Amino acid sequence: MAPKWQELADRLAVQIRRGDFAPGQHLPHIRELVAAGEGSKATVHAAYKALEAKGLVTSSRGHGTIVRPHKPIRLVGKRVVLREFTREDVDDVLAIIGDDAVTTWLSFDSRDGVQAVAMIEGTMERAAQKPRTEFYLGVTKRDEDRVIGFARIGLSGAQAGKLGYAVAAKEWGHGYATDAARTLITYAFKELRLHRVSAAIGPDNAASIAVAQQLGFVREGVLRDHVFTNGQWRDSVLFSVLVHEWRP
Ligand SMILES: CC(C)(COP(=O)(O)OP(=O)(O)OC[C@H]1O[C@@H](n2cnc3c(N)ncnc32)[C@H](O)[C@@H]1OP(=O)(O)O)[C@@H](O)C(=O)NCCC(=O)NCCS
Repeated sequence: MAPKWQELADRLAVQIRRGDFAPGQHLPHIRELVAAGEGSKATVHAAYKALEAKGLVTSSRGHGTIVRPHKPIRLVGKRVVLREFTREDVDDVLAIIGDDAVTTWLSFDSRDGVQAVAMIEGTMERAAQKPRTEFYLGVTKRDEDRVIGFARIGLSGAQAGKLGYAVAAKEWGHGYATDAARTLITYAFKELRLHRVSAAIGPDNAASIAVAQQLGFVREGVLRDHVFTNGQWRDSVLFSVLVHEWRP
């Protein structure tokens, strides 16, 4: 079992990442947490030191412990990097969500440039929300910053998240989606403390099913007429992985 200070630090880290404590806000004074039964002064102090080591808070003597400003997420995988979108990504995003070869498998139809801008701005707005409930990130290769795909986890239910991903058609088959999904799921289990991640995939989407199975997802069943896409209703096959099953 993790020491008490570690448990407290982990819990506070999740609350800070979710935005329960706003940037610039003070964490409770140590003696308040002691009074609330979180442990001794040394326990709370050690937890605060651990948060400082993670770069989540600053601690200045006498002024208390303060939450650092929102830090953009950047996750480094074996083959790809996941990072926040910027407005400069619009052409690269359009090459993905404006391509029928990609969107035929997604829950929406192909989009134009105006819709691509709106999509990016929507992800940026939701990234800044407190608490943050969507982790929608651009995927780049490790050695260049151009977006070649996206991966998304939206929080829903009890410590649960829904996964989605796509890669530009000309980049298929190099393991990018598998690595992006693996990296984002690891973040979700480790840092966001999720218990369950699910993915709803079209029954004929062999490539996406291969990605999910490679990552150890278990098939749960069929969601009937789950999405309306390409002018018709489509079933989804529901897959999930639980935190104790996760082998990154
Ligand atoms: C699904 C998708 C993201 C995969 O991206 P990718 O970067 O090519 O994925 P990876 O290279 O990591 O893995 C693809 C796997 O699918 C397998 N695959 C590809 N096409 C396949 C097919 N027609 N039949 C069976 N397996 C197939 C590959 O062999 C590979 O498995 P492997 O590593 O065991 O060999 C990409 O095809 C895509 O963007 N599709 C359209 C959008 C989409 O379907 N998103 C998911 C919605 S649920």
